[in-house]
Amino acid sequence: MGAAASHSQPHTREDLAPWQRPLARGLAAQPASARRQLRGLAPELLDLASNDYLGMGREPAVVAAAQAAAAREGVGSGASRLVCGSRPVHTALERALAAWLGRDRVLLFPSGFQANLAAVQALADRHSLVLADRLIHHSLLTGVRASGARLQRFRHNNLDHLNALLSAARQRQPDQRLLVLAESLYSMEGTSADVPALAAICARHGAALLLDEAHALGVLGPGGRGLGHGEPGIALLCGTFGKAFGSGGAFLAGDGLVMEWLLQFSGPFRYTTALAPPLAAGALAALQHMQAQELAGQPTGPALLERARRWRQALATAGWPQPPGEGPILPLLVGDDQRALDLQQRLERAGLLAVAIRPPTVPPGGARLRLVLRADLPPGTLERLLHALGSP
Ligand SMILES: Cc1ncc(COP(=O)(O)O)c(C=O)c1O
Repeated sequence: MGAAASHSQPHTREDLAPWQRPLARGLAAQPASARRQLRGLAPELLDLASNDYLGMGREPAVVAAAQAAAAREGVGSGASRLVCGSRPVHTALERALAAWLGRDRVLLFPSGFQANLAAVQALADRHSLVLADRLIHHSLLTGVRASGARLQRFRHNNLDHLNALLSAARQRQPDQRLLVLAESLYSMEGTSADVPALAAICARHGAALLLDEAHALGVLGPGGRGLGHGEPGIALLCGTFGKAFGSGGAFLAGDGLVMEWLLQFSGPFRYTTALAPPLAAGALAALQHMQAQELAGQPTGPALLERARRWRQALATAGWPQPPGEGPILPLLVGDDQRALDLQQRLERAGLLAVAIRPPTVPPGGARLRLVLRADLPPGTLERLLHALGSP
């Protein structure tokens, strides 16, 4: 048996190779209560956990577009965009997104993690200072490390703190390249940045702003165009298709200069297999679906937000801490890890899936049950949820 085969055993075994020992030590140091498991979507449970906020993953037009693309183009693209992996559906999706968002140009990436890595590397180098919201997504932090830039964190959504850090940085080094990282909807908090104020502060200090709209697109802002819509002071905007678009993959949007730089020099763009055609086609169909609903006077975002408002109120009325923010992510902040797990199990027994989020994904003492509202949940879901939660 391979020496590393059983990672659940104590790991002082002599037969471990030197490269295996740090891995084994890391696993041995992990408390049992923090051990993670792969989890699917059991068909008998109602999904209050995934990020498919608009139910696009099962929208017939989206599924049909992905199927047709697979039949026409094959499942995979076979090469990077600059070798021979580009397909008309990639270009069509890039153009449609650029027009929808009012940005010069869009480039697709196989994942949001990769797009964020590319974005930070485009806007910062080892001489730069990056100021990141304390709760920023891991992919952005990985990008900062890869860029070699120095990192400072500002308190969550605290623009006074950001302003003070930027002023101090400018005083220390007037010509330094500065980059600010923020999200428009924080996936574990449900909170949003004040994007216009954020952009104004960045402009005042000559700092670039990278806005991750992964959870906001399709849901927040005019017609679901995100909170950065119409805001010129954003150097790069990141969107993903794995959430409200119901597909997979991601994109960056920005002006001609930064996007051409990405095309010419970005490793995470150039040296990766192009987004699978069925995913690109699914994302394009989801975008068209959102646009058609908006044209018909029935945009999906506002109805979902109204429902989210009622859910927040009902939870508070039932005695639970009112989930912060206003989007479809409703974290029930309970603090204690075991309490969050107990709640998850209580819901599961009632046929509902919501996941307990614990440190290190959230700060110590910040365990929560992450409830996610989706547009296609059946009527009566809120009542079912409140009944399953019981009293706090
Ligand atoms: C805020 C944020 N940015 C980026 C990503 C990464 O996107 P993807 O899942 O497409 O890699 C995620 C996904 O969890 C996210 O929550």
